[in-house]
Amino acid sequence: MARETWGTRIGFILAAVGSAVGLGNIWRFPFQVGQEGGAAFMVMYLAFVVLIGFPAMLAEFVVGRKTDLNAVGGIREWAGGAWTYLGGLFVLIGFVILSYYSVVGGWVLRYVVGSVTGGYTATESAAAYFVSIASGTDALLFHAIFMLIVIGIVALGVQQGIELGVKVMVPAIFVIFGILAVYAFGLAGAGEAYAYYLSPDVGYILENWQSLVPAAAGQGFFTLSLGMGVMITYASYLSSDENLALDGVSIVVLNTGVSILTGLIVFPILFSAGVDPATSGAGAIFISVAEALIDLPFGQIVGLLFFLTVAIAALSSAISLIEVVVSYAIDEYGMDRMRATGIIGVAIFLLGVPVTVNTIFVDLYDIFAAQILLVLGGILLMIAITWLHADKAVGELEKGIGDLGSIGSLWIWIVRVPVVLVLLVSLYLGITGYIDFLQGPFAEYLGSL
Ligand code: TRP
Repeated sequence: MARETWGTRIGFILAAVGSAVGLGNIWRFPFQVGQEGGAAFMVMYLAFVVLIGFPAMLAEFVVGRKTDLNAVGGIREWAGGAWTYLGGLFVLIGFVILSYYSVVGGWVLRYVVGSVTGGYTATESAAAYFVSIASGTDALLFHAIFMLIVIGIVALGVQQGIELGVKVMVPAIFVIFGILAVYAFGLAGAGEAYAYYLSPDVGYILENWQSLVPAAAGQGFFTLSLGMGVMITYASYLSSDENLALDGVSIVVLNTGVSILTGLIVFPILFSAGVDPATSGAGAIFISVAEALIDLPFGQIVGLLFFLTVAIAALSSAISLIEVVVSYAIDEYGMDRMRATGIIGVAIFLLGVPVTVNTIFVDLYDIFAAQILLVLGGILLMIAITWLHADKAVGELEKGIGDLGSIGSLWIWIVRVPVVLVLLVSLYLGITGYIDFLQGPFAEYLGSL
């Protein structure tokens, strides 16, 4: 059977943007900004996206398009030998991320329902409402619904499922968020929010770089869907006349645009409601947005639009996470797409079940996946691409662009040295930070049982 491909060029870009834009931009980004000091984090994050994320994305693209294979097969064919295990790491990362991503996606679906029924505006405390749905039976039920939708779309295939889905979903995200940002601009807290979010304090950055660097690296990889072969997989459905650099720029710009836009919506809402962005954690957008909406004009409609958009964004990312594993099962084991998607989807659902017990498991999975696994995957991938086969990488990038001359070697050297070094530092800091988390908040939780 012939391997599937994208139907159109824009289909690929939208699918990649659909993968990139998700809970990482809308749920994860605001609480990272909040925990890491506002604009200071923004500066670091933007630097990481441009200087590390973009070159790393191109590296994933060339492997996918050159080999025309899934992430595991692609890296095996690209580098051979023990590098095949790196593919195993990608599959593992896909499992871990999607398992808790789906639980958070389930919260979002629950809030869509809550917007219609007036659930979260009717309770006295937005925080109590969040706690009541974030773990337990509601969480489990909506985690299951989220996974079922993902399985349904991916089972339909690349063109009929993924491409068609993202063509509707991605434009919808931009339109609705644009409207909401204009709405937020009119709120009383907007001025204060913009200052907090957009004017960095250099002293703060210098004092806190040890937590800022791994947080920004993790967020940079997470938000661009890098470090586990999504971009390898998606680029493998592509033909050789495509300008990968141009596609990469479009994807990075659109994705960063959604993150910035999210901040322009969420922070004015928070400041208008008198909520401190530093304290909100994984419940940030849920608690604070709901709290704010109770008193704001058109609150219920704004809430519905907001959470519906988040749900769409989460789904278009989740399909890319599962597609890495599904594509591997199809290519390597000759499995039928429908069956592969069903089996893998159920396994991921089960891995996510513990996360529905207590929200601390979200942190347990999330910090491990984003600040350790993705960064580790990224380092190994970047070494395999630029240290082992630089000529092949540049040659592949040049297809669809033309002779790159010294820009090609500039790209290789940026990835070889600064990108790898910064990622190594981030990995080290990420591991020590995770140990602190395990010994601190997580140990406390276990002690309280
Ligand atoms: N980038 C998505 C987001 O920001 C999440 C995601 C999809 C992802 N695929 C990924 C993260 C692969 C890491 C790796 O929500």
